Amino acid sequence: MELSDIKIIGVCGSGSMGAGIIQVAAQTGFTVKVLEANEQAISRGKSIIEGGLKKLVDKGKMAPEERDAVISRITFYTDASNLNDVDFIIEAVFENMDVKKELFQRLDKVTKDNVVYASNTSSLSITEMASFCKRPNKFIGMHFFNPVPVMKLVEIIPALQTDEDTIKLARGLAEKFGKTTVLCKDTPGFIVNRLLVPMMLDAARLYEAGIASAEDIDNAMVLGTNMPMGPLKLMDFTGVEIAYYVGNIFYEYTKDPRFNPPDIMRKMVKAGYLGMKTGKGFYDYTKKD
Ligand SMILES: NC(=O)c1ccc[n+]([C@@H]2O[C@H](COP(=O)([O-])OP(=O)(O)OC[C@H]3O[C@@H](n4cnc5c(N)ncnc54)[C@H](O)[C@@H]3O)[C@@H](O)[C@H]2O)c1
Repeated sequence: MELSDIKIIGVCGSGSMGAGIIQVAAQTGFTVKVLEANEQAISRGKSIIEGGLKKLVDKGKMAPEERDAVISRITFYTDASNLNDVDFIIEAVFENMDVKKELFQRLDKVTKDNVVYASNTSSLSITEMASFCKRPNKFIGMHFFNPVPVMKLVEIIPALQTDEDTIKLARGLAEKFGKTTVLCKDTPGFIVNRLLVPMMLDAARLYEAGIASAEDIDNAMVLGTNMPMGPLKLMDFTGVEIAYYVGNIFYEYTKDPRFNPPDIMRKMVKAGYLGMKTGKGFYDYTKKD
């Protein structure tokens, strides 16, 4: 299959990541068929996409007619058999191997023979997922970043079984979406999280040891390295529990102590101090100043 043969894209899951991928694919001009778990999730996905497009229209970056055309290219389903004519599938369902395995096996019963499956997983093995599928050579990782319409990077992660054509197609498709790709072997954290997660955990270790305040750690990294957001604020923004769980998964796999989350994070997760969404994390968001 050539890049120009890809006409219909299937996206599984329309949560934070899936919705962004759907928006970008439809904006690129593809017909997008979305598979979701239930009607409630479909409503949520639709409203995330409509919100994303509204921002573009409000800023004058997209005409209302173009928004309507983008929306008309997207159809939602709960029955996998509707994905029988898609050329390329991007999976963004829950980060759980059993959920993903069940989904790929269901898709295998209905999809075309030359379809490519790409997973947007952040922490699971691409090679293991490929091994569950009928055509492991047509399986690959495509790791997008949040928010997908804004973030320019896609990490491309071939499984041990992936063939060269599939790598070429995945890179070509991401570039058609307007993204820049980097190629990385199937390894915990790929490139970005392999470097970012230990740095965030180290920042929590400095905080735990009382070496500096949260504000000073973040200010030091923002002003000293030009990061747009300090590591502790970033964890509060994305959810302290995410860095905690991801660190644990990588630690279990690599036994590298850099990935072992500090005790303060375990306690914060237990206490429900998950960051902005719960009002408290490394910072207190309930204070009015
Ligand atoms: N959130 C991030 O910053 C981020 C970044 C990069 C990659 N990822 C990865 O993207 C994937 C999705 O993450 P998210 O943050 O969008 O999660 P999310 O919880 O916001 O969305 C997941 C969606 O998948 C749907 N879903 C669950 N099981 C399904 C099934 N069997 N069939 C169809 N749909 C199903 C859910 O209804 C939900 O809408 C995960 O693998 C995650 O590791 C997340």
